[in-house]
Amino acid sequence: MAKETLTITDNRTGKQYEIPVEEGGVIRAAALRDIKTSADDFGLMSYDPSFTNTASCRSRITYIDGDKGILRYRGYPIEELAEKSNYLEVAYLIVKGELPDRGHYAAWEGNIKTHTMIHENIKKFMEGFRYDAHPMGMLVSTIGALSTFYPEAAQITDLESRRLQTRRLIGKVPTLAAFAYRHTRGLPYVYPQNDLSYTGNFLSMLFRMAERDYQPNPVLEHALDVLFILHADHEQNCSANAMRSVGSSQVDPYSAVAAATAALYGPLHGGANEAVIRMLVEIGSPKNVPGFIKDVKAGKRRLMGFGHRVYKNYDPRAKIVKKIAYDVFKVTGLNPLIDISLELEKIALEDDYFVSRKLYPNVDFYTGVTYQAMGFPMTMFPVLFAIPRTSGWMAQWAEMVRDPEQKIARPRQVYVGEQTRRWTPLEQRPEPTMREDAVSDEI
Ligand code: ACO
Repeated sequence: MAKETLTITDNRTGKQYEIPVEEGGVIRAAALRDIKTSADDFGLMSYDPSFTNTASCRSRITYIDGDKGILRYRGYPIEELAEKSNYLEVAYLIVKGELPDRGHYAAWEGNIKTHTMIHENIKKFMEGFRYDAHPMGMLVSTIGALSTFYPEAAQITDLESRRLQTRRLIGKVPTLAAFAYRHTRGLPYVYPQNDLSYTGNFLSMLFRMAERDYQPNPVLEHALDVLFILHADHEQNCSANAMRSVGSSQVDPYSAVAAATAALYGPLHGGANEAVIRMLVEIGSPKNVPGFIKDVKAGKRRLMGFGHRVYKNYDPRAKIVKKIAYDVFKVTGLNPLIDISLELEKIALEDDYFVSRKLYPNVDFYTGVTYQAMGFPMTMFPVLFAIPRTSGWMAQWAEMVRDPEQKIARPRQVYVGEQTRRWTPLEQRPEPTMREDAVSDEI
C-alpha cells in the first residue's frame, strides 16, 4: 500500500527527510524546519505571498470546490439553502454547525431580534459623520465603537460571552448599516420593528418614510434574504482571514469584526460589484460589447465580475443571483444594464480567451444590477455584503478561538533588506537628500 508520506532529498547535504502527508494532500510547513544544512541553521521555510497555496486552519464551516463550482455551508449545498431556507436559519447553521429544530429556531430568532436596538450614543456618533461619509466607513467605525459598550466581550474564552456577542453583532449590524444609509440621505433614523423578518426589518429601517405601518415588498424581501444567504460565508477569503488574524491577538470580537469589515471595504473584495456597474455604464449599450471584449483580450481592460481565485467554473452563487435579478426586475422594472451584462456573458463564454483561462461570471457580475434596481446606491453594496457575512466571521472567529492548534497569527518573512549599517550624523551623510523622494520610494 502507498505510504502517506513525502520524501525530500536535500541536495545541499544529501540527507533525506520523510514528511507525513495528512488529509490526503497536506504537509505541515513546520516539518520543513527540520531540513537544515547545520545544527544552527534556521531550517527551510515556505514562501507563499498572499497565501495562494497555504492552509491557515482546519475548518468545518464552508466547503468550496472551485473546479466543479461547488459551495456548501456545513455540508449543505448553497443551491438548496438558497431555495428552501432563510438567512437567519442559515446564520444559525453557520454559527452552530447544525440546522435548528423549531424550538431552537424560535429561540434564535427571538435572541437576534432582542439585540437589534443600538445604544443611543452610537446614534450620536453616526450624527457626527459628514453628510457625504461613505456608509462602509461609518459601519467600520461604529462596529469598532461597540466594543466600548460591551467590555465583557473581551472574555473570548467564555462560551456564553461568545454566544451573546454573536447574537448582538448579527442583530445590530443591520441597524448600524441602515442608520449609515439614512445619514447619507439626511433622513431620520428608523428604529427596528421586530414583528418583521430579519430582512424585512432591515428594509423598513432603510426605506420607511411616513407610513404608519411599513410593509416591505415580499418579493424584494425574499430576494434580499437569498442574497444574504449567498454572502454568509466563503471560507478563508480576505475578510475572514482578517477576522481570524486580528482575533488571534485575543482582542474582543467587535474590534475583530471592525477589521474584517475594513477588509471587505476594499475594491478587490466587497467593492467588485460597484466596479461591474461602472464598467456596464461605461460600455453603455450591448452594441459596444464586442469592442469592449476586444480591449479586454488585448489586455487593456478587465472584464469585471469575471474570474475568481478559487472558482475555475461558473460561480454557483452567480447562477442564483441571475435568477433573483429577474424576480426583482418584475417588481422594480428592468435595469437596462442587464442587457449589457447578458451580452457580455454570452460573448465571453464562447470566446477562447475566457474559456481557456476558465473565466466565468462570479457572484458580483449580477449583484450590482440587482441592488441597483432595488434602489441601493453603489456605496451600500459592500455594506449589504457585510451584514450577512457577520455570521460567517463570527463562526470563523469562534472556530479559531476553540482550536488548540491556533496561536497568534504571525507569518515569517524573507528579509531582503540591508545588513548591519553604522549610523552617521546628519551633516556627514552624502548629498543629495533634499527631496524626500530622492531617498525612498516606499512611502
Ligand atoms: N478579465 C480579463 N482577464 C482576466 C480576468 C478578467 N476579469 N480575470 C483574470 N483574467 C486573466 C488574467 O489576465 C490572466 O491572464 P494571463 O494568464 O494571460 O496573464 C489569467 O486570466 C489569470 O488571472 P489572474 O489575475 O492570475 O487570476 P487571479 O486568481 O489572481 O485573480 C480575480 C482573480 C482578482 C478575481 C480576477 O479574476 C479579476 O480581477 N476579476 C475581476 C474583478 C472581480 O470580478 N473581482 C470579484 C471577485 S469575487 C469576490 O471577491 C466576491
